[in-house]
Amino acid sequence: MLKVDMNKFCSYELDEIKVSNFIFIIFGGMGDLSTKKIIPSLFNLFKRNKLKKTFEIILHGKTKRSNEMCYEVIKKNILKEDKEEFDVELFEKFYKNISYYDENIEEPEKCKILKSIVDKFNNSSEEENQIIFYLAVPPDLVLKILKIIENTKICKKGINKKIVMEKPFGTDYNSAKKLNKELMKNFKENEVYRMDHYLGKETVQNILFFRFGNLILEPIWKREYIDHVQITISETIGIENRGEFYDKNGIIKDIIQNHMLQILSIICMEYPINFSSNSIRDEKLKIFKSIKKIEKKDIEKNIVLGQYGNGKILGENVVGYLEEKKIPQDSKTATFFAGKIFIENWRWSGVPFYLRAGKRLKEKLTEIVIIFKNPPLNLFGNNCSKIFPNRVIFTIQPEEKIEISMNVKYPGDKNYPHPIKLTFDYSNLNSKIHLNAYERLILDILKGDLTLFTREDEVESMWEIVAPIIEASEGSIQIQEYSSGSWGVKESELLIENDERRWSRHEDN
Ligand code: BG6
Repeated sequence: MLKVDMNKFCSYELDEIKVSNFIFIIFGGMGDLSTKKIIPSLFNLFKRNKLKKTFEIILHGKTKRSNEMCYEVIKKNILKEDKEEFDVELFEKFYKNISYYDENIEEPEKCKILKSIVDKFNNSSEEENQIIFYLAVPPDLVLKILKIIENTKICKKGINKKIVMEKPFGTDYNSAKKLNKELMKNFKENEVYRMDHYLGKETVQNILFFRFGNLILEPIWKREYIDHVQITISETIGIENRGEFYDKNGIIKDIIQNHMLQILSIICMEYPINFSSNSIRDEKLKIFKSIKKIEKKDIEKNIVLGQYGNGKILGENVVGYLEEKKIPQDSKTATFFAGKIFIENWRWSGVPFYLRAGKRLKEKLTEIVIIFKNPPLNLFGNNCSKIFPNRVIFTIQPEEKIEISMNVKYPGDKNYPHPIKLTFDYSNLNSKIHLNAYERLILDILKGDLTLFTREDEVESMWEIVAPIIEASEGSIQIQEYSSGSWGVKESELLIENDERRWSRHEDN
């Protein structure tokens, strides 16, 4: 076990954070994302005494709902998430700051409620106030909501305003470009927080600290020493109650275009000149720009797509994708992706990156495995013909850990090299300041730190990367069925095995 004495170098108190008074307006306020992630995270920040200032949370939705209904839904979701003891009194205190408004946003001109809230905000005497518009809605509603915000005329005034956009940002390159243009009519780029909750996960951020805080890694973090890289984002859940959204988006727009590419860029980026948001995002962008475009002729060879059929997850029978609610019988939407890509820059040229993601797979697992080349000679004779290659493994979920696998001599009179692991496991830190992804990102929004959010040029570039895959998924690539509870489409094994490699974790992790 790699022992870390956390107290030796820094003090890790979650210090007093300067957050000014704020109004937090959530569009799609009673939707799944808001009630399961955003509001519980705001509550947790409140509980940790992070929201000391005056604040109001305004939930905006289309459906008529009584205050009691909202109260019950929110309380139920917080109770589900709250692993520590639920404090009703504290919740009541928090809930006093919440209100719900319904309005039909189909006719933005007629939406007056937001205007009255904004007017109230404008007339308040506090100088430090900030207003946050959080769009937790599907992409097709975004432009209408931007219109409603524009109609309030708030953006013309020099006030502290921010807008948070959930992923997917647009539905393709052109729509993302258009959306960026629309946003820029009323907001500046440094007021736009494009969410990708994977960037808020501790272990994803830790990749940067691990890479750039340990000089011993730098000389080997490149094509001369790294054989290949694997990134897996596998889920056991299906599409749950999100049939309508999912069928329009599928795995490529839901996971690959955002979470997968963001992780990839952090693994591969060069050293930023400093730790400012733009320096980091500049380097990530260079990676997106260097990803080799997959030619039409190679797409079938390098990309595998699938859709889950029925099967068993953790011993329970589950239905196939086509039997899920709100899914058309002839849907060709992919729920599984496996692909091989290359980054054509000095550091990574020639190193294959194998990426796979899917729903209803065998395990919930997000991990990145860096597999190093074998030593040039087998010095240890015939006792062991193959030495296990060194690996660095970042496990993002279900556990949060970083492992380095090395070889040592197995005790005895034979020359047996034996693989062992040096492990850093977050659960051993016993940290009381661990924030979940949404808590961390919401805190960053309130503080005004853009580092963990996607910039305009990044998001457009990421759409350019997936464009040929989306096109192929609508035509040339066959979407193959796989059984729920398996590791996805069989061809994804061949994709890597044909290169004489195999997916990590199948049996050896
Ligand atoms: C979301 C996707 O962005 O990420 C979901 O829309 C997916 O389909 C989820 O289930 C996975 O997030 P996590 O944090 O559970 O890995």
